[in-house]
Amino acid sequence: MKLIVCENYAEMSRVAARMVAGQVIAKPDCVLGLATGSTPIGTYQELIRLYENGLVDFKDVVSYNLDEYYPISPENDQSYRYFMNHNLFDHINIDKNNTHVPSGEMADPDAECKKYDEMVENAGGIDLQILGIGQNGHIGFNEPDDFLYAETHVTDLTENTIAVNSRFFASIDEVPKQAITMGLGNILKAKKILLLINGKAKSAILHTLLEGNITTRVPASFLKAHADVTIICDKEAYGE
Ligand code: GLP
Repeated sequence: MKLIVCENYAEMSRVAARMVAGQVIAKPDCVLGLATGSTPIGTYQELIRLYENGLVDFKDVVSYNLDEYYPISPENDQSYRYFMNHNLFDHINIDKNNTHVPSGEMADPDAECKKYDEMVENAGGIDLQILGIGQNGHIGFNEPDDFLYAETHVTDLTENTIAVNSRFFASIDEVPKQAITMGLGNILKAKKILLLINGKAKSAILHTLLEGNITTRVPASFLKAHADVTIICDKEAYGE
């Protein structure tokens, strides 16, 4: 894993956005794997700025998001579909038909999760995957457990994740108890991975990741087995 330590969140976002833009410039019809959460918002803002300045063109880009709450309607302002539209897609020239977020309204989750994976495969796989990380080491919604899933699946959220994510909801009772997420196998199939980590609250998990072994108790530790992972963090997360 390569590590880039940035001065602060703004610099981390600029560095990440330039790497994403570089991917789009090198391969205009690339497949991006996208993440939600507060971490990548600055990266998305920077990508919007690069687009507005005519430096990057998203018209042929295809995207697949990692995860979505379940159940949730795409119109719900806490859904990850709403987040992506609001924070990125509505502000760039990506064709919305080429943007994919797992449906939080799946009637037949098993079949639809399988279909999601097939769509990614048929698109040629993910060229560049952006990831954030949970304080407990989750990536997507692959929570620490005795075993992890390779493919897209429905999962129960841990109490920790429900509590941490409740800050975005009116009350903790409104946080969905389940989610749909790409599995570790899907994530590790991405050709390149950018993992963004910022803030003091992520310091412990960053160092666990850098210094620890691969374990299902820290799902992000599986990234150590991937050949092309770049961690971009800020000084607050890394420590002085
Ligand atoms: C969420 C998402 C993850 C995200 C993580 C961190 O629950 N499912 O994809 O990376 O938690 O979120 P944040 O960036 O807000 O700290």
